[in-house]
Amino acid sequence: MTTEFDLGALLAERGAERYELHARHLNPQLPRMLHTIGFDKVYERAEGAHFFDADGNDYLDMLAGFGVMGLGRHHPVVRKALHDVLDLDLADLTRFDCQPLPGLLAERLLAHSPHLDRVFFGNSGTEAVETALKFARYATGKPRVLYCDHAFHGLTTGSLSVNGEDGFRDGFAPLLPDTAVPLGDLDALARELRKGDVAALIVEPIQGKGVHEAPPGYLRAAQELLHKHKALLIADEVQTGLGRTGDFYAYQHEDGVEPDLVCVAKALSGGYVPVGATLGKEWIFKKVYSSMDRVLVHSASFGSNAQAMACGLAVLSVMENEQIVAGVRRTGELLKSRLATLIDKYELLADVRGRGLMIGIEFGKPSSLKLRGRWTMLQAARKGLFAQMVVVPLLQKHRILTQVSGDHLEVIKLIPPLVIDEADVDRFVDAFTAVMDDAHSGGGLMWDFGKTLIKQAVANR
Ligand SMILES: Cc1ncc(COP(=O)(O)O)c(C=O)c1O
Repeated sequence: MTTEFDLGALLAERGAERYELHARHLNPQLPRMLHTIGFDKVYERAEGAHFFDADGNDYLDMLAGFGVMGLGRHHPVVRKALHDVLDLDLADLTRFDCQPLPGLLAERLLAHSPHLDRVFFGNSGTEAVETALKFARYATGKPRVLYCDHAFHGLTTGSLSVNGEDGFRDGFAPLLPDTAVPLGDLDALARELRKGDVAALIVEPIQGKGVHEAPPGYLRAAQELLHKHKALLIADEVQTGLGRTGDFYAYQHEDGVEPDLVCVAKALSGGYVPVGATLGKEWIFKKVYSSMDRVLVHSASFGSNAQAMACGLAVLSVMENEQIVAGVRRTGELLKSRLATLIDKYELLADVRGRGLMIGIEFGKPSSLKLRGRWTMLQAARKGLFAQMVVVPLLQKHRILTQVSGDHLEVIKLIPPLVIDEADVDRFVDAFTAVMDDAHSGGGLMWDFGKTLIKQAVANR
C-alpha cells in the first residue's frame, strides 16, 4: 500500500486558513498583532529580496527573516545543494561514523577566522550561545557570565540569563549567575572581573536592539582585560556574522580582536535549514572533550545534519564567488549615506547609524511646536509608537517590510538580504522620504493612525 502525501494539494486546499490555524493552535498573539497593524498579508511566493502576493504585487524585504535570509530567498546555488544532498541518499546521522560534510564546512568556516581551531554545530542561534556559555564556564572553571545592557542572545534559559531586557527575563528566574555591564564601559567590566568568578563576557559587536556599535577600541581592550583575569571573550555573531556588517565577522572591523568563542547561525544555511555553530580555540575544546568518556558531554541529535551542512557549504561558496562582503560594504554605504542626508531635512529624524547592511534609523523629538505636541502625546502613551507609525505605511503604501528595533524604541532596523541592489536602495529611500513627508505635514492618515495606536496603548495598560 502506498501512502500518498501531496504537499501542493494540501496547501491549495487549506492554505487560506493560515491565520485561523495559527490563532487556534499556535501563539495566538501573533495573528492578533498582525491583524491589528494590517500586516496580515498573504504572500504566495518569494525570490531574492522580494515577496509576491496572489495579484503579483512585489514587496521589498528589508528584514530578511530576522537576518536568516542573508542571500535572499531561494538562492539557486543553495537550493541546488539542498536538492543534491537529498538525492544523494547519504547515510546521515548514523551518529557512529564521521560524515564528510561537517568537517568540510568547519574547515571552510574556520578559514574566515584563522585564530580559531574547532567548531561545534547545533541548530539555532540560541544553541550556539548556550554552547559558548557552557564551554566558557567549563574551560575557566568559573560560574558567572557578563553581558551588555540591552543585549539579545536568544531566549532559551542560558541565553536568557545574558539578556539585557527585563521584558524578556521577567517571570523566568532563577537564571544563571550573571551581571550586566554597559556596552563600552571598561571600568564596569574591570570592576566585575576583579571579583574573580567571571568566566566570560558575551557581546554583540553591533547590538541588534537599537543598532548600537561597540565604541572603537572597546572589544580589543575588553579582550585584554578578560584575558588578564583568565576570562574569555565570546563574540555573538549570530546576526552580525557572515558579511552582514561589511566584514565576514563584525569583530574583524578592528585589528587585534580575537574572541575565544564565536557564535554564528541565521544566514549560515541560506534560510532553508536551521543551523548554529560555535567556533572556538583549541584549548577550550580540548578541555571540554578531554577524554573518550566525555565524547558526548555536549552534543545535539540534529547537529551537523547533512542538509544544514550542504547548505552552509553552498552559502560560503556563494559568498566567496559572488564577493558578497564587498557588495554589502558598497550597498550599505550607499543606503546609509542617502538616509543620512535626510537628517537635515526632517526634524523627526535624529540619527542613521550602523555598518554594512545593518542600519538603525532613530527618530527623536522635533523642534517645531506643531510636531512637538503630537510627538509628546505619542511618547506619553508608549515609547516606540512613532517608529510603528513609520513601519506600517512602509508596508501598506509602499510594500516594504521593515521592523521596529525592539520594544519601546523609536528606532527602525534595516537588515535586508545582503543581495539587495541599487534599485532596491532607491525604492526604500524614496518610500521612506514619502513617509517622512507625510509625517512632517502633521496631518492626514499617518497621524490618525497614531491616534489609534495611542488608544490601543492606553487600553493595554
Ligand atoms: C545576536 C543574536 N544572538 C542570538 C540569537 C538567537 O538566535 P535564534 O533565534 O536562532 O535562537 C539572535 C536572534 O535574533 C541574535 O540576534
